[in-house]
Amino acid sequence: MANVIVIGAQWGDEGKGKITDLLSKSADIVVRYQGGVNAGHTIVVGGQTLKLHLIPSGILYPDTECIIGCGTVIDPQVLIGELEQLKKLNISTKNLQISETAHVTMPYHRLIDIAAEERRGSHKIGTTGRGIGPTYADKSERTGIRVLDLMDEKGLRKQLKWAVEYKNVILEKLYELPPLDPETVIEQYLNYAEVLRPYVVDTSLKIYDAIHRRRNILFEGAQGTLLDLDHGTYPYVTSSNPVAGGACIGTGVGPTAIDRVIGVAKAYTTRVGEGPFPTELVGEIGEKLCDRGAEFGTTTGRKRRCGWFDAVIGRYAVRINGMDCIAITKLDVLDELEEIKVCIAYEIDGVEFKDFPRNARRFAECRPIYKVLPGWKQSTENCRSLEDLPRQALDYLKFLAELMDVPIAIVSLGASREQTIIVEDPIHGPKRALLDANGTPVAS
Ligand code: GDP
Ligand code: IMO
Ligand code: MG
Repeated sequence: MANVIVIGAQWGDEGKGKITDLLSKSADIVVRYQGGVNAGHTIVVGGQTLKLHLIPSGILYPDTECIIGCGTVIDPQVLIGELEQLKKLNISTKNLQISETAHVTMPYHRLIDIAAEERRGSHKIGTTGRGIGPTYADKSERTGIRVLDLMDEKGLRKQLKWAVEYKNVILEKLYELPPLDPETVIEQYLNYAEVLRPYVVDTSLKIYDAIHRRRNILFEGAQGTLLDLDHGTYPYVTSSNPVAGGACIGTGVGPTAIDRVIGVAKAYTTRVGEGPFPTELVGEIGEKLCDRGAEFGTTTGRKRRCGWFDAVIGRYAVRINGMDCIAITKLDVLDELEEIKVCIAYEIDGVEFKDFPRNARRFAECRPIYKVLPGWKQSTENCRSLEDLPRQALDYLKFLAELMDVPIAIVSLGASREQTIIVEDPIHGPKRALLDANGTPVAS
């Protein structure tokens, strides 16, 4: 048995949906532990594309339980839309459960998110406008509405009347927006509550029982390490903790239950929204990556910024997440390139360094130092083993693994399930080697 966390190692959209779907085959339960409908996880099976924002990417397996954990923030309107989408596709949601202590995104959260971004002007974060920051802010401020509050009509009427009136002051006085009608919001959310009620449980207890019975749990991260509120490129981050540590808090599971952390990184880098991105490509090659990789946001449709693989942030992600192994996705997107660059270090004012600077202003000054590798200039889409890969592609992967000091367990060469090379068992295979007191690698 193994309890596994899957995390994004870059700025999100690494292909976590595809990898989670793949690994869900051997999971009894898949749990989303943070984020909200800012996430967009794509799964392609049998030519059909499924885009999920909140429902875990294990939902395609009829016997796998799917849980939306307490660390997420839930927009009921979007969640209900997702349930309807799945119903239309004949995908059962009978095994879905929602944490009663997850916080709920309200209409004022979305309005404030968008208005605050406008007010920030050139300091904007480039949020998805889905109310994520304001929902988590209310959670921290202790004025949030939780799923269990939604389920209590009498309490909700009182709580929401107060909350809407309170937020109306902000909407009207600070942002010069029309106020919301408390009664309309209350009725709308009471309706949502009735749809969601059958799914709501104490998910922490469910997961604890499952762990006790030695069932396999897969913790699905949203966003990515560099978007983490504490460990990312603050302030250009999201408002939750996508890193592996977030999985315990966002589900109510103790750290001793976790067996393995699997990272997911693209063979290049993308970023949506504002913030420093040292390896960003603004010219022809960036456009090529964007076209071939179809790099448009799953949630907002925004064009993703594209750049070379950055091994400095890769190493950082290995460290911050305690990553045991990694999945490299979208290698096929590099197929046509003459040469491929990898950032191995940064430089500021002639000084070279290999650690990710925590100050966003300093990070913006970093100039990447590149190692240039030859491209393979042939399709890898149909490769199904490492032996099928062109030598240059194999060298490229080896170079990334060496730079990040982490074994590559999976290589993805296309959006569908079959377009995958399992290099070694990601769940039970070898882990990243630790060093003994003399600095010699020891088997894990
Ligand atoms: P997530 O947010 O990390 O789940 O990633 P997204 O779903 O937002 O973005 C990844 C996109 O790349 C999706 O459209 C996937 O279908 C697609 N994708 C995943 N793996 C591969 C791959 O190996 N090659 C190609 N070409 N596309 C991929
Ligand atoms: P998945 O799970 C990529 C980015 C936004 C913005 C910043 C803050 O699909 O990888 P927010 O709305 O969260 O307050 O926006 O975070 N962002 C993502 N970028 N993938 C995501 O999710 C993202 N979720 C948020 O673009 O820069
Ligand atoms: Mg995405």
